[in-house]
Amino acid sequence: MSQQLPDRSLFPKHIGVIMDGNGRWANERNLSRTQGHKVGAKVFEDITRYCAKIGIDYITFYAFSTENWKRPLKEVNFLMSLFDNELTRAFKLKAQNEKDGICMNFIGDIESLPKTLQILINKTRTEKKETTKTVSTIAINYGSQQEILNATKKICEEYKNEKISLDKLDVSNFNNYLYTNEMPPVDLMIRTGGEKRLSNYLLWQSAYSELYFTDVYWPDFDTDELDKAIIEFSNRNRRFGDVKEDKFES
Ligand code: FPP
Repeated sequence: MSQQLPDRSLFPKHIGVIMDGNGRWANERNLSRTQGHKVGAKVFEDITRYCAKIGIDYITFYAFSTENWKRPLKEVNFLMSLFDNELTRAFKLKAQNEKDGICMNFIGDIESLPKTLQILINKTRTEKKETTKTVSTIAINYGSQQEILNATKKICEEYKNEKISLDKLDVSNFNNYLYTNEMPPVDLMIRTGGEKRLSNYLLWQSAYSELYFTDVYWPDFDTDELDKAIIEFSNRNRRFGDVKEDKFES
């Protein structure tokens, strides 16, 4: 049953999503893990469309981590071909997506992906425009520790070449060296599938995220489930290290 969403001013501006549970969802139905991923890809599309409809500025999906290469080759190959198919579809729908206010974006170590996938990513990526309602980002071959390390290396290089002075470096401009440099921090981090960890995902960007864990497997996650997460987010008391009490008792 759908519930009443709060006023848009109370929406998270940026939602991060760890789409977990595809394999278990499939196992419980005597299906192959790959079928779970296939249904998961459809859910990704539905949730992106819904975000544009209700006005979530940014949503960033964890599709493949730098550690996912450790999975059986058959599963990795399947996921790569699933990404190929999904992006081919997104490319065909590019004009429609732009009309619907969806901007497609990608983060991660794209250059180490198979060449065909790199080409598709470059063809599918769109620019953020005045008419954009949601920026839907797919994190693929993404690892947060690697991202932070690479940012640090770039800064060292710039320091060595006297392009940056260390006293000018702060939390805000460190952000410029990350894949997410044009995005606001993650307000709400959703993980489906029952595990309660961040798994090397957007660690810098989620410093003050509200964390939302649900047992629902990703293939069963739908717009009602997203509504629930947004409603819970709107009821959280975010303090960012500050205090909100009127009185201070010693
Ligand atoms: C985690 O579930 C899921 C993944 C590693 C893959 C996620 C990819 C998709 C949902 C496809 C999305 C496609 C696009 C283009 C965004 P798991 O396999 O770890 O599940 P388990 O924990 O139940 O085994």
